[in-house]
Amino acid sequence: MRIVAFNGSPRAEQSNTDVMVEAFLAGAQEAGAEVENIYLAQKKIGHCLGCFTCWWRTPGTCIQPDDMDELIAKYLSADVAVFATPLYNDNVSGIMKNFIDRLLPTGGPHFEKDGNGEVRHIPGAKRAPKFVMIANSGFPEQSHFQVLRLLARRMARNYHTEFVGEIYRGAGSLLQDEEMGPLVDAYRGLLRKAGTEVVNAGRISPETSDHLEQPLIPAPEYVDIFLLNANAYMDQVIAANRKA
Ligand SMILES: Cc1cc2nc3c(=O)[nH]c(=O)nc-3n(C[C@H](O)[C@H](O)[C@H](O)COP(=O)(O)O)c2cc1C
Repeated sequence: MRIVAFNGSPRAEQSNTDVMVEAFLAGAQEAGAEVENIYLAQKKIGHCLGCFTCWWRTPGTCIQPDDMDELIAKYLSADVAVFATPLYNDNVSGIMKNFIDRLLPTGGPHFEKDGNGEVRHIPGAKRAPKFVMIANSGFPEQSHFQVLRLLARRMARNYHTEFVGEIYRGAGSLLQDEEMGPLVDAYRGLLRKAGTEVVNAGRISPETSDHLEQPLIPAPEYVDIFLLNANAYMDQVIAANRKA
């Protein structure tokens, strides 16, 4: 099995997204998958021009000479793609949105009705990979991912493929907070387990998903703890920047 992760954080290797992706891929690799981790911020990806040349004149190929030809080849070579992103305005990052829009040449131009009678495009010439959605947010609650939960399901429908797991982490900055050490190690263990499950069972199990949804700070008042610390941190950083 081949798993290719596309990280849509502008912070690339420094990102909280990367902490999640690396652990997930490590688990998949331990289970025998061939894995690749791609930082979209390091690629040249123009925004979709909406010209439909990739459907009308050069089927399957975009008119723009940037890195998307290579990225589409990687995407189509995967059995499972990972869309990994920080939460920006309740949605994927701009980099990730550009990437997703630029997957347009992989779909078919004609229309059909789905099982619910709703219109969508027919599948492209090559099957879209199954996929996993990974994201982290600044705010602590898991409720901030409601747009992504829906988006992932719509993408699976639109691309005629299977959505095999979602991993969302509120208060993602805690993943790189040294004081969180053992808690983050335990969370990394769960991410590895999720990666292993995708290889061995084809999807992330409901039990692992449940565990992954639990707050990183294991206390009922985790939101208040987060607020206190986050605001103190902001004051500190603002003061340090004013002095500099
Ligand atoms: C432009 C922008 C928009 C953001 N929007 C949200 C948001 O809607 N909700 C949220 O919880 N965090 C939001 N954040 C915070 C990021 O999700 C958070 O800093 C995250 O940990 C960054 O992840 P990364 O290190 O993987 O890039 C936003 C950050 C930026 C820069």
